[in-house]
Amino acid sequence: MNWDDTTDETAADRLVGASADREDQAVEAALRPKDLDEFIGQEKVREQLDLVLRAARARGATADHVLLSGAPGLGKTTLSMIIAAEMGAPIRITSGPAIQHAGDLAAILSSLQEGEVFFLDEIHRMSRPAEEMLYMAMEDFRVDVIVGKGPGATAIPLELPPFTLVGATTRAGLLPPPLRDRFGFTAHMEFYEPAELQRVIHRSAHLLDVEIGAEGAAEIAGRSRGTPRIANRLLRRVRDYAQVKADGIITREIAAAALKVYEVDARGLDRLDRGVLEALLKLFGGGPVGLSTLAVAVGEERETVEEVAEPFLVREGLLARTPRGRVATPAAWAHLGLTPPQRTMGGNGQGDLFGA
Ligand SMILES: Nc1ncnc2c1ncn2[C@@H]1O[C@H](COP(=O)(O)OP(=O)(O)O)[C@@H](O)[C@H]1O
Ligand SMILES: [Mg+2]
Repeated sequence: MNWDDTTDETAADRLVGASADREDQAVEAALRPKDLDEFIGQEKVREQLDLVLRAARARGATADHVLLSGAPGLGKTTLSMIIAAEMGAPIRITSGPAIQHAGDLAAILSSLQEGEVFFLDEIHRMSRPAEEMLYMAMEDFRVDVIVGKGPGATAIPLELPPFTLVGATTRAGLLPPPLRDRFGFTAHMEFYEPAELQRVIHRSAHLLDVEIGAEGAAEIAGRSRGTPRIANRLLRRVRDYAQVKADGIITREIAAAALKVYEVDARGLDRLDRGVLEALLKLFGGGPVGLSTLAVAVGEERETVEEVAEPFLVREGLLARTPRGRVATPAAWAHLGLTPPQRTMGGNGQGDLFGA
């Protein structure tokens, strides 16, 4: 599944998009948990990582390489910083797309200090030659620097100090197995439960000096798509509303009213998601309908519907992708408050678009 939801403008501007926009980047630094104890949820990952790091510390050794996989906004960058903090090590941050040539990678690797955490975000987007250099660096703490070109080129081996590579990816399936296998520990980040997001919201509200009740936090949490980044962003928009329209205190009513203004519904669907669902139900009787037809009906690009709207609708069990086209589930009808048409028994499975 594609979690990169920045395929076009519709995606980039979304209040419920999971990628960080410029405002997010500015405030996120202030909201990031600093150690494992402060990190909310992801119990399994936290427990396993705690063991890995404790053991390394006890041995006085550099921690094993760690791969963090999961959708955007679930805390991968945050965890990489926590790993460095817990190890008392400095951290170097870069990303796959920033490494064009193997030489770029060699330059970074050869300047690492002993025990340093090297955070490589979007590791699945690194170039192939760089990837191959990384294999050797991860396994033998060594790189071959190629000097010269053509038949006269020679490889000069360069020893590296031991370091911890922390790779992050939204698409673990895209990593070549030899790369995946070189990580000592892989953490799969899951979407968060509403109760966990509620804690994230309380914590952020405290840091932002915003007053919020338990019900207000629950209201925002339920619309945050299991994603802390979205929870924090919705919190900031609700805070604005509370300041302008009320006394600044976030109650359940204020949160609901604010998110109605921003068109984020009770399940976290925004205008685009609802548009897709509504077209599927009202124009095509719940489907099956082809992706292209559906996209034309909502006036969006195919890719936008497929990559931006659908993943969440599928995850929420509102829409199914079948070989014959997109189909709405009973939950979709219920969510939009509509009654599904009666299906003809043993028919062509098309249903009766115009009712029985
Ligand atoms: N477990 C968590 N507890 C509290 N806040 C979190 C947690 N995970 C993520 N966040 C918050 O969500 C935002 C996005 O997290 P980030 O680490 O940048 O996600 P990713 O790198 O996976 O896209 C950060 O501001 C961070 O404070
Ligand atoms: Mg990140």
